[in-house]
Amino acid sequence: MSTARVLFNQSVNPFLSINARRLLTPKPELKPYTSLRSIRASSSSSSSSSSSSSSAMVKVIRVHELGGPEVLKWEEVEIGEPKEGEIRVKNKAIGVNFIDVYFRKGVYNAPLPFTPGMEAVGVVTAVGPGLTGRKVGNVVAYAGNPMGSYAEEQILPASVAVPVPSSIDFSVAAAVMLKGMTAQVLLRRVFKVERGHTVLILAAAGGVGSLLCQWANALGATVIGTVSNEEKAAQAAQDGCHHVIIYTKEDFEAKVHEITSGKGVNVVYDSVGKDTFQKSLACLASRGYMVNFGQSSGRPDPIPLSDLAAKSLFLTRPSLMHYTSTRDELLESAGEVFANVASGVLRIRVNHTYPLSEAARAHADLEARKTSGSIVLFPDN
Ligand SMILES: NC(=O)c1ccc[n+]([C@@H]2O[C@H](COP(=O)([O-])OP(=O)(O)OC[C@H]3O[C@@H](n4cnc5c(N)ncnc54)[C@H](OP(=O)(O)O)[C@@H]3O)[C@@H](O)[C@H]2O)c1
Repeated sequence: MSTARVLFNQSVNPFLSINARRLLTPKPELKPYTSLRSIRASSSSSSSSSSSSSSAMVKVIRVHELGGPEVLKWEEVEIGEPKEGEIRVKNKAIGVNFIDVYFRKGVYNAPLPFTPGMEAVGVVTAVGPGLTGRKVGNVVAYAGNPMGSYAEEQILPASVAVPVPSSIDFSVAAAVMLKGMTAQVLLRRVFKVERGHTVLILAAAGGVGSLLCQWANALGATVIGTVSNEEKAAQAAQDGCHHVIIYTKEDFEAKVHEITSGKGVNVVYDSVGKDTFQKSLACLASRGYMVNFGQSSGRPDPIPLSDLAAKSLFLTRPSLMHYTSTRDELLESAGEVFANVASGVLRIRVNHTYPLSEAARAHADLEARKTSGSIVLFPDN
């Protein structure tokens, strides 16, 4: 597998930011990228035995009350048979996303009780009446609605499931569907990154951040990333950040202006929200794009529209689902992600795995900023 899709072509002041060249030698504790085929191969032997169409009790994570990670309960439920237009999927790997935390805490609303999770890859075990083009045994992935992927098996509308290329293993597919399509939408559609642009990516070592850095680098942009510690800084540099700022130690606004000689950046991808929003705005060049796509530190405070006037700025708050609402958009976005994984443009860091029954531990680690790259849950059976 190709390892060298990362450019380290700019040296910067070593006293004020992490010099990417210094970080070329990875620390031993850095997790390697996950290979494309390893887990698919080990799991495929079990898929044939699961191809029954009988309704069964399955284990799922359920939330009966909003709160901390402890409200994620491991329970048995009956999922029934797929109806018209639906398929039943035995999940092989389930992606954890920050949005799962928002739903668990009630930042976003869902009727109780609910099963969290918006991303999984699995094998089709039953097909609803009249549905063509889907077969028992097909490997499919989905990201977004309906919520409910923290489950051994789930019913899905066939329209949200996309085929997974056989070269891509279960854990990679589950790690990259939602986060990769988010990166595709942000870099290729919300603001079209091109050679010559300078981009600022906050939480650059996170699940989405890692992919944004790699992809923006491949598009020819100068990439500036912010992270909270040295280990994450090393990872962001490996992922193509030309400049990494440890924003828990340095003022990232001042540092960005220093790196860009006062010009500012063309676009900021800010998923941190409350703690960073104002400084992110201040990092923009004239006619720059402020893309706030998350709020891991909380909702940003409102700003007067007139704040954008000083530099004729653009402000947007995109959501993946509005950019993948048609089947064509979904297939195009997923297709571009899988192609970039297959070609080595995107190397997927599955840095943390947990049994599905221990989803609470995954949430606690994600919220405590202990994780980097992607988190994947594996069904216990
Ligand atoms: N709009 C959309 O459609 C869309 C789609 C996907 C994801 N998102 C958003 O993208 C963001 C990243 O998602 P992800 O699943 O890949 O998570 P993630 O980036 O792996 O994890 C969140 C990271 O945010 C940073 N962070 C800064 N302040 C934090 C705080 N107070 N609490 C927790 N984390 C904090 C941490 O990185 P450092 O330690 O380096 O600061 C942390 O590791 C989330 O905000 C998510 O909601 C939005």
